[in-house]
Amino acid sequence: MGRATKVVLAYSGGVDTSVCIPYLKEEWGVEEVITLAADLGQGEELGPIKEKALKSGASVSLVENAQESFVKDYAFAAIRANALYENRYPLSTALARPLIAKLLVEAAEKYGADAVAHGCTGKGNDQVRFDVSIAALNPNIKVLAPAREWGMSREETIAYGERFGIPTPVKKSSPFSIDRNLLGRSIEAGPLEDPWTEPPEEIYAMTKAIADTPNEPDYVEIGFEKGNPVSLNGQTLSGIELITQLNEVVGKHGVGRIDMVENRLVGIKSREIYEVPALLVLIQAHRDIESLCLTADVSHYKRGIEETYAKLIYNGLWYSPLKAALDGFIDQTQERVSGTVRLKLFKGNATIVGRQSDNSLYTPDLATYGAEDKFDHKAAEGFIYVWGLPTRVWSEKTRG
Ligand code: ARG
Repeated sequence: MGRATKVVLAYSGGVDTSVCIPYLKEEWGVEEVITLAADLGQGEELGPIKEKALKSGASVSLVENAQESFVKDYAFAAIRANALYENRYPLSTALARPLIAKLLVEAAEKYGADAVAHGCTGKGNDQVRFDVSIAALNPNIKVLAPAREWGMSREETIAYGERFGIPTPVKKSSPFSIDRNLLGRSIEAGPLEDPWTEPPEEIYAMTKAIADTPNEPDYVEIGFEKGNPVSLNGQTLSGIELITQLNEVVGKHGVGRIDMVENRLVGIKSREIYEVPALLVLIQAHRDIESLCLTADVSHYKRGIEETYAKLIYNGLWYSPLKAALDGFIDQTQERVSGTVRLKLFKGNATIVGRQSDNSLYTPDLATYGAEDKFDHKAAEGFIYVWGLPTRVWSEKTRG
């Protein structure tokens, strides 16, 4: 008896996930492997991937275009939450995992599979995100992770694949490990493992080096409705279109690179490079439109929620009750977060130069230093007396 009878495998077309197919069948006694490749805008032709899975021994090869849901249900939720892990990483890879898990579970239910599988190793965050998301969506489905157990080196994996007709990668395989989708690219390993080593320019694909950016700025206007980005330069766009166009113009000006050492859930520190042009600028702009539309106390309180929210996405808890509860808070705050933010893109900087909203709480009569000033200056004196009273008392008692 094998570990499972029928398995739906998350498939990328790479050597590791290809080798998973014969491995599951030969070593773990699986009778049937169905592969599922998710199109999340990685900009790759998925047609050949479909063929490749069948050649590697899959009985069914599914390709799902999930870009629309990826943007609407995952990326936009993270933007409404201004979610940045450790204050920097906008979770471009992390957000894709719960969606892929959902597709796997749906396919398993449809095809009557008793398990799903993925090609993650035991050192990363992604295994946690897959396993926990799958358990949350259907706790009766087993999760198999061959690469977590097989203990083969890169060379051994390729050799194992060759025995089952899986072609050796043609080009000399890059030392980098790259994950890519519509939101960005995550690059790690190889020379980047030394945190002191400057990332070579060749690793970047979505953002230009400052030396190659235009000598004239571009201005972009991003329109928000209830916290969701809906337009670019006055033109209403689908989420996919908006992110695609924004990636282009923002990347052209060398904006959107992150080089950081982050703390993985499994206790390891790792050096990661990200290119996330549109996503980073969207969070920056969203924060700014919130500054017009939210009261001070909601805005300050939300900061704490945002940090928790980013952490739970990173740590694989997308389908948790905590996430659902925080969504209740965040969605309530976004009811009136609508308006337009204007940014200037130039030489690696995205600078916000203007914002406007019909729901703006900014009150010129109160803010102005001019003659139209409506603020009651005398009221400040009594306020400050009461506000400062505890400090005054403390000082009187402790000065000696
Ligand atoms: N460290 C990031 C995360 O946990 C990205 C990992 C992406 N994988 C890669 N092969 N670069 O979300």
